[in-house]
Amino acid sequence: MLLTVKIHYSIFFNNKSIISEGFHWHFLHLHTDIFLLWSCLYQKLYLWFTMLKPHYSRNYNVCAFIGSPPEIFLCCVFQMRHNEEGLQAVDDLVRRYVHSCAWYLGPFYNMVRLFHPDYIKSLLTASALPVCFAGHCLLLQNGQEWSRHRRLLTPAFHFDILKKYVHVFNQSTNIMHAKWRRLLAEGQNSLDMFEHMSSMTLDSLLKCTFSCDSHCQGKPSEYIAAILELSKLLVQRQHYLPYHWDWLYWRSEQGRRFRKACNIVHEFTSKIVQERRLQLDQQGSAKTRTENMEYTGGYKKKETDLIDLLLLSKDENGEGLTNEEIKAHADMFMFAGHDTTASALSWIFYNLAMHQDHQDRCRAEIRSVLGDGDEHDISWEDLSQLPFTTMCIKESLRLHSPVLALTRYYSQNMKTPGNCIIPQGSLCLISIYGVHRNPEVWPDPEVYDPLRFDPENSHGRSPHAFIPFSAGPRNCIGQNFAMAEIKVLVAQTLSRFRILPGPKPVRRLYQLVLRAEGGLLLNVEELEGSHKE
Ligand code: HEM
Repeated sequence: MLLTVKIHYSIFFNNKSIISEGFHWHFLHLHTDIFLLWSCLYQKLYLWFTMLKPHYSRNYNVCAFIGSPPEIFLCCVFQMRHNEEGLQAVDDLVRRYVHSCAWYLGPFYNMVRLFHPDYIKSLLTASALPVCFAGHCLLLQNGQEWSRHRRLLTPAFHFDILKKYVHVFNQSTNIMHAKWRRLLAEGQNSLDMFEHMSSMTLDSLLKCTFSCDSHCQGKPSEYIAAILELSKLLVQRQHYLPYHWDWLYWRSEQGRRFRKACNIVHEFTSKIVQERRLQLDQQGSAKTRTENMEYTGGYKKKETDLIDLLLLSKDENGEGLTNEEIKAHADMFMFAGHDTTASALSWIFYNLAMHQDHQDRCRAEIRSVLGDGDEHDISWEDLSQLPFTTMCIKESLRLHSPVLALTRYYSQNMKTPGNCIIPQGSLCLISIYGVHRNPEVWPDPEVYDPLRFDPENSHGRSPHAFIPFSAGPRNCIGQNFAMAEIKVLVAQTLSRFRILPGPKPVRRLYQLVLRAEGGLLLNVEELEGSHKE
């Protein structure tokens, strides 16, 4: 008997749904009884729908990934894991099916998984409803509403704006390094990269979004604690099947904690947006304010931040975003921007720790731009002078992409090569992980080789072979922001510290982003002469 299960859960702010790739192994140990009950129920439903209801049965067949060759994989719940073994199972799938396969997830949902650039190309440009973990913001909008908001938000991520954030990235990096020095002096040289990168990226985002200096790298703040709590609760909910049911979740202790943390985040953003709107109104028209962008009168800040830009944005009809919309977008930047960048940075340092030759070559390149081990800030212009370091960053984003998959529903049948059709309404999982580790696209995919990104070696490679930030119209709006921050942090860190492998083997763990079980511990050594008191 085919054992199938739909992993389906509705998530916060506005109860949108999300389908996960699977659930965590420990769920089986902790909640075997509920699991058995659940799977029995599904098996019964499956039988009922396939045998007693012929029209559902037909639909069910149609809902497979039709075409030749129909690479259909009957998904068993035991194959859905988020840990090292689960990811290795995906490697096996990719090696076996090369382009795509279809999974049956219970009688109601079918999932098509795609892991070849040729198969995902048309899907990434088509209009679809993304399925994801955030509230009513860009990520969950569709159609006209999404394109209007995307147009309004895009100028906030223009290079001219990003340039101004480089000093913020330098500043946050310096704060993190000062903390590292203190910990090294106390004899602690194994550091959990996720912990440090996460508070550093939150610090930068708070400064760039709200001009808010929370000192979160040094002392706890209620807002930061709430953001971290929400990320943690989301993962816990994802792994505990009964909590996928809204009714139960909102009445549970976890649901109450979630609501409380959400309120803290919303209140914080609300207050800033309202204050800024008031200041803007007091200062006159948006035009006047734009001309006075650098003017700090009345503001406790030096630069234009993302909130300002959202308040000032206007569409072709002169309409701007409402306070509610700005709040949702600002919260979204915090969620979409901090964990992803922290994951990217942690894995970059892991890969460089495991490949000292590449680390040395990056350091030599960085020193040729910055000079020997001093405390210079990196400028925007310097960032384009680091080609090898950029290759190392990209190779790490390929091998350890923070986001492993994109989930989509299409409102029409979608054609893929090989005469296959993905039926309208099926769940589509565009596997970034699978594309990045597809041996047909990347020879020896598990090897960390930055030279793959040397322009000479990139000829003929599909632009969809490397998609850590997705691709097409719905790609990551913050990718240049993230790349600038990553480059500043990597360059400053390698010019001051040597990163070495940690005390224990690293096992991957996929939660909202790619993490490591029990944290990602790496050893850190300060380089001689890198710090002048
Ligand atoms: C290394 C860091 C990052 C990675 C790997 C990453 C990855 C992604 C991916 C894969 C998507 C597409 C999601 C989907 O279509 O389902 C996305 C969308 C998005 N990202 Fe990022 N992201 C990063 C950093 C950031 C930052 C720093 C921000 C904001 C400051 C940000 C804001 C967004 C937003 C708003 C969207 C939705 C775009 C839309 O739907 O039009 N991201 N990101």
